[in-house]
Amino acid sequence: MPDTTADSVGKVYIDDQGSDEVGDGSAERPFQTAFRALTVAGIQANVFARKTPGGEYEPLGTSALKKAKKTMELNERKAKKNEDQKASKEKEEAERLAREARRIEESKKIVLEEDTSLPPATKIQELTKFRSKRVRVSGWVHRLRQQKELTFIVLRDGTGFLQSILAGKLSQTYDALTLATEATVEIYGIISEVPEGKTAPGGHELIADYWRLLGASPQGDDAFSSKLNAESEGSVVADNRHLVLRGEVAASIMHVRAGVLSAFRKVFEAHSVVEVTPPCMVQTQVEGGATLFKFDYYGEPAFLTQSSQLYLETCLPSLGDVYCIQESFRAENSDAYLTFCRHLSEYTHLEAELAFITFDDLMTHIETVICEAVDTVLENPRLAAMLKQLHPKFQPPKRPFLRMSYRDAIKYLIEHDIKRKDDDTGELVDHVVGDDIAEAAERQMTDQLGVPMFLHGFPKHLKAFYMKKIPGDEEFTESCDLLMPNVGEIVGGSMRIPGIDDLLDGYKREGIDPAPYYWFTDQRKYGTCEHGGYGLGVERLLAWLLNRYTVRECSLYPRWPGRATP
Ligand code: 4AD
Repeated sequence: MPDTTADSVGKVYIDDQGSDEVGDGSAERPFQTAFRALTVAGIQANVFARKTPGGEYEPLGTSALKKAKKTMELNERKAKKNEDQKASKEKEEAERLAREARRIEESKKIVLEEDTSLPPATKIQELTKFRSKRVRVSGWVHRLRQQKELTFIVLRDGTGFLQSILAGKLSQTYDALTLATEATVEIYGIISEVPEGKTAPGGHELIADYWRLLGASPQGDDAFSSKLNAESEGSVVADNRHLVLRGEVAASIMHVRAGVLSAFRKVFEAHSVVEVTPPCMVQTQVEGGATLFKFDYYGEPAFLTQSSQLYLETCLPSLGDVYCIQESFRAENSDAYLTFCRHLSEYTHLEAELAFITFDDLMTHIETVICEAVDTVLENPRLAAMLKQLHPKFQPPKRPFLRMSYRDAIKYLIEHDIKRKDDDTGELVDHVVGDDIAEAAERQMTDQLGVPMFLHGFPKHLKAFYMKKIPGDEEFTESCDLLMPNVGEIVGGSMRIPGIDDLLDGYKREGIDPAPYYWFTDQRKYGTCEHGGYGLGVERLLAWLLNRYTVRECSLYPRWPGRATP
């Protein structure tokens, strides 16, 4: 009869009904397997087993014991092997770090010979002229790839990108080994055409013979790519707009933006329209009190301008046709989606005012100026390439643009089942003449038509105080909006009331005190004329041209409700 007490040293009990998890190897709480028994009690332990629960324990058979011992030995060997492997890996990593540290230490001793024969400093854009010549180029490390004896840098200087190669000693200095993207460097070397079959921006690369670090950029957690990448959330992207601007997409948009502004200036000059710069701080409203930003101006109420139109009108007798490219400000708080797509609190407003014209002349002028400006941008190969990259399907618009009267637009909306929300009931209802066409309905119609379109002749009660009424149809105005597919309205314009009495009526209708507008009213007193003008939202034009989902991408530092940083 075997001893069955749980504390018998060297004896351990197993049973098919026992448990390796909760058993303790005593006869009362046996383990389930011999392997577990040997693991707990040691390889020399005496293992007892029983065939049926409650039956008698007997020494475990030799072959079962042998099998369990073998499994145990195998496991022990495996564990040892794993431990050895882990230790060897740790050793290797420690050696690698030590090697790296030695390499960094060694690298500090490598001093590149400062070049005394200064080659010409060159912008990347001009490098084609310097093929096979030695140049000096400065810029930011846009992309970086380090191999054993080679460092590949794509350098960026705003005018373009340049592949540069640091080889041998040049890639082994301390600065080379600790180089990170967005650092600034100056590289000297020969501009060489890339070998056949290989591609590089400009078709050439800079084979460096000397370089130096101008401004380092962090590695690790603070590295540029850790701060901002494809996974970054919207608010992180907005907070880091200053870094976003270094990216290819944002920089291309800003380049095209500059090209568009310069193209408009060129086109206006060709049409003898003179540039003026009206004030941003004003004491009169133009487009209704609801969207005014008010501020205290030395104790008097003042506003950030909504539009420079009234000032442009005063320039006609002095300079003839005029335009300005000026910031306008709107405290708009409309539908969140539309606000996101097309409203900014501060936007670049391109406005023009033309004297002695008809309403038809005005619309023809608007489409001419836009088409000529687009053509001018496309004539610049760099801008044309950026535009193609951003908006591969872009086709320059065809003239004349579609023109649809407000009344016909209402018919279109009814026929195409585009409804409006009733203010009182919230129900979707058909439009009727006199309704404001909401932005959403306007967008739907524009997207369906798929071409630039003038919508004209809006009801008087929906429009600003200064708009001229249609002769013989006095409830409607000589006003127009230019609508573009995917964006909606990009231009708002009209003929202006030329007569003083009509203008005074306009002030009255809109509840505006005429006193602060004395200078605007004077235009009708001292030699009035038929005139008209328009305002174009530059960011909206860019959103259309570059197929951007939101105007926010088209502004350098966009402002919207709750966002005025950076
Ligand atoms: O239609 P709006 O309000 O017209 C005027 O301000 C006229 N006084 C202009 C004039 O006749 N000189 O604005 C003109 C254009 C719009 O078509 C739109 O493109 C843009 O300005 N715009 C905005 N762009 C971005 N964000 C906003 N919140 C905008 N509000 C208007």
